Amino acid sequence: MIDIHCHVLPGVDDGVPDLAAARALCERAAEDGTTDIIATPHQRHPNWPNEDRGYLETVWRGLREHVGDLLEIHLGAEVRLDSHFLDELERRQSGHVLPLAGSRYLLIELPRAEVGPYPEDVLHEVSIAGYFPILAHPEMIPYLSNDLDRLESFVADGAMLQVTAMSVTGEFGRVPEQAAWSMLREGWVHFVASDAHSAAWRPPGLSSARAALTKQLGVDVASLLTQGNPARILENLPLTLKSEPE
Ligand SMILES: [Fe+2]
Repeated sequence: MIDIHCHVLPGVDDGVPDLAAARALCERAAEDGTTDIIATPHQRHPNWPNEDRGYLETVWRGLREHVGDLLEIHLGAEVRLDSHFLDELERRQSGHVLPLAGSRYLLIELPRAEVGPYPEDVLHEVSIAGYFPILAHPEMIPYLSNDLDRLESFVADGAMLQVTAMSVTGEFGRVPEQAAWSMLREGWVHFVASDAHSAAWRPPGLSSARAALTKQLGVDVASLLTQGNPARILENLPLTLKSEPE
């Protein structure tokens, strides 16, 4: 399995604090069947702006060396949407926004309260600029999880959805669980990822969610959301398969 959302880069945000904790997270993920992790530190977040892409790349190289052949770690980011997002994106190579694993896919974090630019406008511009926007955990964003018609319009406009594994398994409680399954049953979800922050608190691992997906939606959908679609990111190819239930 391939985990596209994980705070495994040490000491840069609210994820793991150091290399030892990062190693522990990777060991647990590998034991659970994960072969690849895309490290997604926060960027443009008020608490963790992480504007120095070169620094993140240096930390990533150190982490890869420390983890060895336990699993493969790629670099990306969870980028907070704000009014300067598009300016930054237009700077491309000179800008500091990190797409996922060097691809055209961007993992986008919406603020939990609706502030700043309209997400619809920014997501449209992101698509026109040639990127594939992926919304991180929409089941945790109240103005989307409570308004599935609006979320459907995001999806119709080309936004992809990443639901969090612990929402799928119900470990975050009933509200995100029900929202996640509503989105899954509609066939709107393209990725399930851990959003892990440590080996113990919000831990890694996708196997429990994959088992629940297999039971409810069939093995093909379960495989697509945890392996097939994430692999397309690593190959920097568009998704070709729809994630509709059997
Ligand atoms: Fe995250």
